[in-house]
Amino acid sequence: MKRYNEDAKLVPVPSTNIIPERDVDKSPILECRHLGIDFGGLTAVDEFNMAIGRTEIAGLIGPNGAGKTTVFNLLTKVYQPTRGTILLGGMDTAGMNTVQVNHAGIARTFQNIRLFSKLTVMENVLIGLHSSMKYRLPTAILRSPAYWRQEKGARERALELLSIFDMQDLAEHEAGSLPYGAQRRLEIVRALGTNPSLLLLDEPAAGMNPSETAELMENIVKIRDTFQIAVMLIEHDMSLVMNICEGICVLNFGRIIAKGTAKDIQNNPEVIKAYLGTRKEG
Ligand SMILES: Nc1ncnc2c1ncn2[C@@H]1O[C@H](COP(=O)(O)OP(=O)(O)OP(=O)(O)O)[C@@H](O)[C@H]1O
Ligand SMILES: [Mg+2]
Repeated sequence: MKRYNEDAKLVPVPSTNIIPERDVDKSPILECRHLGIDFGGLTAVDEFNMAIGRTEIAGLIGPNGAGKTTVFNLLTKVYQPTRGTILLGGMDTAGMNTVQVNHAGIARTFQNIRLFSKLTVMENVLIGLHSSMKYRLPTAILRSPAYWRQEKGARERALELLSIFDMQDLAEHEAGSLPYGAQRRLEIVRALGTNPSLLLLDEPAAGMNPSETAELMENIVKIRDTFQIAVMLIEHDMSLVMNICEGICVLNFGRIIAKGTAKDIQNNPEVIKAYLGTRKEG
């Protein structure tokens, strides 16, 4: 199998974090400093420090309940952090809400698919696109020529985005009628519609068969290359993580236990013990 991250080389950035060497002349797209959240007495995430380069594919892995989805919920302001800082392109996101942080450039998919299942594939993508479009109210109410021009543009854009996954012919199908793998792909397309600079994918390969996963892997790399954006993904499928992620962060009980390239992670004794399991020799 082709490895996309073969020549991954990470370099330190000032805050003791690491990002790909090619991104080092720009500030990281995301930087978390001492990020943490408590739910009552439970510390779900603590001392989460990480940086992601502008065009990096980063991975967040760890056992069930480690706090991975909680990190995404913090980044997207589903939860406000108990402590710490989240910088997006160098800008502090403190006080922002979910919508504001999406406009600022973070889009996500969910561990459990969240589509409008009774709407068509096209309508689902248009919802993503509209959330990033700036209508002026009179334009929208009067359905003026400018409105229709924008609508036509949005439909063309939606088809273009669907074609990344070769899904343009499914545009008029009901989203809920698609096979599971296709629904996961549609969620990614919808997220891309909001024009993110950082795309968060929560277990994108869950429920996919090996050939779908291999295709997804190629498409994630294609998305990064085409849009020149950063991707951070949570995934239990180690073939996907180890093949496409550059910087990988391992969480255990809400804390980072290792950070580095696929090679670093695979050889880290603590990670092997906590998560990857002991490798049988011979
Ligand atoms: N809103 C909440 N209230 C209380 N506890 C929560 C809340 N959200 C998450 N937790 C707890 O935080 C911990 C981390 O959960 P999280 O969903 O982030 O794990 P995860 O790493 O995504 O796991 P999985 O691989 O199973 O998806 C768990 O113990 C969970 O029960
Ligand atoms: Mg999760």
